[in-house]
Amino acid sequence: MKTKITEMFGIQHPIIQGGMHFVGFAELAAAVSNAGGLGIITGLTQRTPADLANEIARCHDMTDKPFGVNLTFLPIVQAPDYPGYVKAIIEGGVKIVETAGNNPQEYLPALKDAGVKVIHKCTAVRHALKAQKIGCDAASIDGFECGGHPGEDDIPNMILLPRAADELEIPFVASGGMADARSLVASLAMGAEGMNMGTRFIATKEAPVHENVKKAIVAASELDTRLIMRPLRNTERVLANEAVERLLEKERRLGKDLKFDDIMGEVAGVYPRIMTEGDMDAGAWSCGMVAGLINDIPTCKELIDRIMSDAEALISSRLSGVL
Ligand SMILES: Cc1cc2nc3c(=O)[nH]c(=O)nc-3n(C[C@H](O)[C@H](O)[C@H](O)COP(=O)(O)O)c2cc1C
Repeated sequence: MKTKITEMFGIQHPIIQGGMHFVGFAELAAAVSNAGGLGIITGLTQRTPADLANEIARCHDMTDKPFGVNLTFLPIVQAPDYPGYVKAIIEGGVKIVETAGNNPQEYLPALKDAGVKVIHKCTAVRHALKAQKIGCDAASIDGFECGGHPGEDDIPNMILLPRAADELEIPFVASGGMADARSLVASLAMGAEGMNMGTRFIATKEAPVHENVKKAIVAASELDTRLIMRPLRNTERVLANEAVERLLEKERRLGKDLKFDDIMGEVAGVYPRIMTEGDMDAGAWSCGMVAGLINDIPTCKELIDRIMSDAEALISSRLSGVL
């Protein structure tokens, strides 16, 4: 399959692995890239720019294919050392950056001068138009189904993707709720040039997370995610567990008085305990509704090969068959 995204990023298949906190280490990024997709290291999971430089070097050791780095611009006062992370990306020879969260405009000149392609993840068409205007090369359109932060508009991809296709000039990929060949073919039909998957890539052999996390995704249905932090306008889709139920109870009880401090215990610094130690009730962790479509733990190559061959069959048999 050849699309604007495979051409832009120099990859074989139009499949991207989105940045994921405490999941997007070099092992996963390299496995996805070696399988012909685009693997992405999560920048901020690395505590310092020097750690990120080291992770990039480890990834270069594991693959000679293109891979990217995710830079998430958080809505917090004490910002991480973003200029340092950008420097580590450029000096590490990485040519693709997935930005997310706040507007990445400040860092675009440095990235562009270094020949880095920027794909900005957006949950609204107006944000994607802004990304296009400030010079991003592509967009990742993240629907309401997605694991992580779906924004506050609640528009699912069945509407969001055709809306993006109607408005955008830069190419975009579909993100949120993507799991298989059906997701890919439907995304292409709605105007996307490929797809981005998060949750699906956690349930793979190479994802460097505790087995409990993979099993929890396989066991979950599409009914098992919850939206937290809505009252703080920082909505996150997570897998239901004890900590999440406790947090939601606080949201109900405190209503408009809820402060971030009230839920710190359920959200702050919990990722290593979940992803590394497999303590599944330690706190809230991002997971998409797509868990309902995930029933196995293949290698990244098995997953991507299956998607691509099923997609070919879908297009050449089912779709041409109905004409
Ligand atoms: C465990 C987990 C952690 C994530 N962490 C980040 C992150 O740090 N930065 C980011 O931009 N997106 C993050 N995401 C969002 C993914 O990159 C991707 O956009 C999303 O998972 C797509 O939805 P899906 O899970 O339905 O495939 C995370 C998602 C998950 C499931």
